[in-house]
Amino acid sequence: MRRALTPAEFALWKHIRDRQLGGFKFDRQEPIDRYYVDFVCRERRLIIELDGGQHSESSEDRQRDSELSALGYRVIRIWNSDVIENLDGVLQMLLSELEREPLTPPLSPQAGRGRADAVRAFYESHPYPAPIGNLDRHRELYRKPDRRRALSLLLWPTEQPRANREILVAGCGTSQAAIHALREPDARVTAIDISETSLRYTRDLQRKYRLQNLALHRLAIEQVEELGQMFDQIVCTGVLHHLPDPDIGLRSLRNVLAQNGAMHLMVYAAYGRAGIYMMQEYCRLLGVGASDEELRDLGTTIGALSSDHPIAGVARRAKDFRNPDALADALLHPQDRAYTVPQLYAWLERCGLSFGRWFEQAPYLPQCGAVARTPHAARLASLSPPLQHAAVELLRGTMPKHNFIAYRDDRLGDSQPITFDGDAWRNYVPLRLPWTLCIRERLPPGSVAVLINRAHTYPDLALPIDAAQEQIFAGIDGKRSIGEILQNAAEAGGDEQARRFMEQLWEYDQIVFDATASY
Ligand SMILES: C[S@@+](CC[C@H](N)C(=O)[O-])C[C@H]1O[C@@H](n2cnc3c(N)ncnc32)[C@H](O)[C@@H]1O
Repeated sequence: MRRALTPAEFALWKHIRDRQLGGFKFDRQEPIDRYYVDFVCRERRLIIELDGGQHSESSEDRQRDSELSALGYRVIRIWNSDVIENLDGVLQMLLSELEREPLTPPLSPQAGRGRADAVRAFYESHPYPAPIGNLDRHRELYRKPDRRRALSLLLWPTEQPRANREILVAGCGTSQAAIHALREPDARVTAIDISETSLRYTRDLQRKYRLQNLALHRLAIEQVEELGQMFDQIVCTGVLHHLPDPDIGLRSLRNVLAQNGAMHLMVYAAYGRAGIYMMQEYCRLLGVGASDEELRDLGTTIGALSSDHPIAGVARRAKDFRNPDALADALLHPQDRAYTVPQLYAWLERCGLSFGRWFEQAPYLPQCGAVARTPHAARLASLSPPLQHAAVELLRGTMPKHNFIAYRDDRLGDSQPITFDGDAWRNYVPLRLPWTLCIRERLPPGSVAVLINRAHTYPDLALPIDAAQEQIFAGIDGKRSIGEILQNAAEAGGDEQARRFMEQLWEYDQIVFDATASY
């Protein structure tokens, strides 16, 4: 049975009934799945819900929106007060939503508008990363619980994987949100992006893989608080450096991070992108545009540069650099900045966050690779960690991005307490990172294997191991603690050597620790 309309519903209904709004047909109080929605335009799969203040924090509403959006409906929530006080604005916003391809809406008339117009226009025509239509391999990989456990331990080494976690993918691009939803079926994933094109690709994946745990919103990061939701995990990679004011973006994300939540961020690194900024300047001088032909010519031009041009290393290392959209993303982006390590630490502090760890830490550590073999290694190691990282960034000179984990600065308890001082480490349970490899060919003299993390781009970060170390390494099964592993491999070198080897495996990003027993 239909209930009586509220005053706001009545005011809106008067203007959208009988195809008055752009000729689109609306029904009111219609059943969809297990819900009654306030208004729906089935042709455009657009639902309008009018909310009073009491709805602002409602988890039922979020659940309902996510289920309706999994059915392919866009849900627009509008405040009653907006309808009463700004009916013309609301109707205009609805009309522009109706005229778009059926897709996800901003949550309020203001959302998704404003500061990021140029960036948004850019991503409408150059969605990034290159869209993918098939996640089958990814689904297979993440069926292995240890893979998910390893990722969770990177974020929270002292916790069992959080069930039912709320994940926000901010600036989700074409596939990242679908990947997270597929990977973590027990989590609820909310994804936001300002580009409809990116969301459309994500929606295709959502349909294909029936991702009921994924809710999509066309919404700018700067307006993320309009979701009225807090998140355990926030993923924001390759986005904040494109914002007109990255501080506003990061603070907004901080405001929706749960107190003991974790943020995975990736931003550009300044020194390693020097060649990119030179070529950006070059493109501006020449007025290079973003048409297919221009991008083809630009790709050919970059290909003709000498191998010691500062951009050559970046182009070689980035797997898709010659792809036109990747090229546009790197060289023609309307808004792009980069951070040195000290700038990054200061940025986090300004925005109420603290640094947790690098996703891959070996490239920043003086104990690893070629840096460890320089005469400065000991001096570098005597600095505080932030200064070590700053110095090693300068020494390496070519890091193009910083990929790291941050926490709220008012977090309760230590976020990354892994240490090899004291005795706590004996209780750590090591787990191999799933994207590592153990190679047994073309070995350096004296070694029986070389350990590689495929996410490392510096070849000097490969770790050769000898027979005694291999015996310890073979004991790592994700179940036994270091203490138990070392007992079984007692004869494989002394205790101090074994401790140092475990520490090295961790520094070189071969393993993560389940430290729940120690904290
Ligand atoms: C380089 S892509 C990265 C996509 C994804 N995070 C990944 O790593 O694969 C940047 C994405 O951020 C989106 N974006 C840019 N500015 C944004 C903003 N202010 N709010 C939300 N999304 C934004 C773009 O539309 C684009 O889809």
